[in-house]
Amino acid sequence: MKKANTDNQILVIFGSNGDLARRKLLPAIFQLFLDNLLPEQFAVIGAGSQVKDETTYREDVKQSLYEFAKKGVDENPDKIAEFLQMIYYKKVNNKTEEDFGALKAYIDHLSVTIGITQNIVYYFSIPPFLYEVVAAHLVKLGLNTEENGWKRIIVEKPFGYSYDSAIDLDKKLHAGFNEDQIYRIDHYLGKETVQNIMVTRFSNGFFEPIWNRKYIDRIEITASEKIGVGSRGGYYDTSGAMRDMIQNHLLQVLAVVAMEPPSVFDSDSIRNETVKVLQGLRPIKSNEIADYVVRGQYISGQVGNEVQNGYRQETGVAPNSKTETFVALKVFIDNWRWGDVPFYIRTGKQMPERVTEVVIHLKPAPHQLFKQLCLTEPNNMIILRIHPDAGVAVDFGMKIPGAGFKVQNVNMAFHYSDLADKKISEAYERLLLDAMIGDSTLFARADAVKASWKFVDPILEAWKNNPEIPLYFYESGTWGPNESNALFGYKFVKWRQPFEKFKTED
Ligand code: BG6
Repeated sequence: MKKANTDNQILVIFGSNGDLARRKLLPAIFQLFLDNLLPEQFAVIGAGSQVKDETTYREDVKQSLYEFAKKGVDENPDKIAEFLQMIYYKKVNNKTEEDFGALKAYIDHLSVTIGITQNIVYYFSIPPFLYEVVAAHLVKLGLNTEENGWKRIIVEKPFGYSYDSAIDLDKKLHAGFNEDQIYRIDHYLGKETVQNIMVTRFSNGFFEPIWNRKYIDRIEITASEKIGVGSRGGYYDTSGAMRDMIQNHLLQVLAVVAMEPPSVFDSDSIRNETVKVLQGLRPIKSNEIADYVVRGQYISGQVGNEVQNGYRQETGVAPNSKTETFVALKVFIDNWRWGDVPFYIRTGKQMPERVTEVVIHLKPAPHQLFKQLCLTEPNNMIILRIHPDAGVAVDFGMKIPGAGFKVQNVNMAFHYSDLADKKISEAYERLLLDAMIGDSTLFARADAVKASWKFVDPILEAWKNNPEIPLYFYESGTWGPNESNALFGYKFVKWRQPFEKFKTED
């Protein structure tokens, strides 16, 4: 990351004692501080519902850094002490108007005592049902006005629960904030390796000419997780994998993989292209669900050395829950580039490995001169590995040394870890800094959020209204229900085993 030209500002974190703030936001801000990327005058106000004084909160922040900051903690006690001087605390009950009045007075006081202009980023690290409540309080007390400095809000996912609720939330936020003040965060877009998909495609002359229906047979996007829902059962049971991972993260990745090249690289041009992909998703009708979507739920099973709970035994989950912890779907994008190229997307919890990757399967050579060792699979693949062992690999056929002309697949790979002198920033570091600078390129725009809800809504409705649509159970520690392979329609084509080719050092 480059040193940013960032205005002096205040970052107010609503939900400052919560999990996200402790695990991700505060360590990310600390890292920006270590990298010398924060503005000269900067303050964080933790706005949480607990009554606390500044000293206690600073101590809590210190603990969070020791627990969750990846590096820089043990070696930098002085830096931590310096960092903590920028941290303040104000008790704010998100539902109480007087508390927002007190927050306003506190901001006024702080901006005078430490001499910071009231450029303010408000981070909504709170349960989604509070987004509109907090926004309304800010507006009512004039904390959104820009007379004495710009104002921005960062809104976490999920943005809405359905198409209608997303539109409703959007209207409520727009009552006090313009679109260019609203930053809808999707941490997948903050991942270096997701951004690299654009660079791989658009900075090289040789990928883009084959990046279309003429040369590509199909594209797979996998995001598998080794963990279950853990302590988030209560949230997850009302969400499920479709709302938690597909509607936002994976459709955004799909959009980046499938977008047209923009003519210039700026926020609007890029987001104009990604939204076209989402608007071009072919709707899946309720009578097509069985052919296009497979849902699953994990049951007890062995992951590594441990036997894991089934989903229905997790805390906060209804004992007869039909919430999906696995989804696989086949998607088409109706445009000239992608006409009839299937995109297969899957995500699931409690699977054998944590892997996120995009696999571009190319069509076979038009005439097969040589004997392939594997006759059923075309051997050309481009693998964009997002996690772990981030990198890019190309698979192609090579002659097996010796008599005859037998062909075997080999793999040419670039691993980010080889760039020893470069550190890969955490997604939240990048996104927080972008919001502080005012660059919304990597944030989801309202039209994109609406388009992705428009696509997933009919599937969620069909599941709700037709209980006969199967929910397949899969054992923890497996790659999900076998039925997900049926989406390919050919007996010999299956989901790629992620570690088969792109060997990891995880
Ligand atoms: C979050 C989801 O947005 O993304 C989680 O709510 C999921 O359920 C997580 O575990 C996955 O993110 P990552 O960066 O670990 O792939």
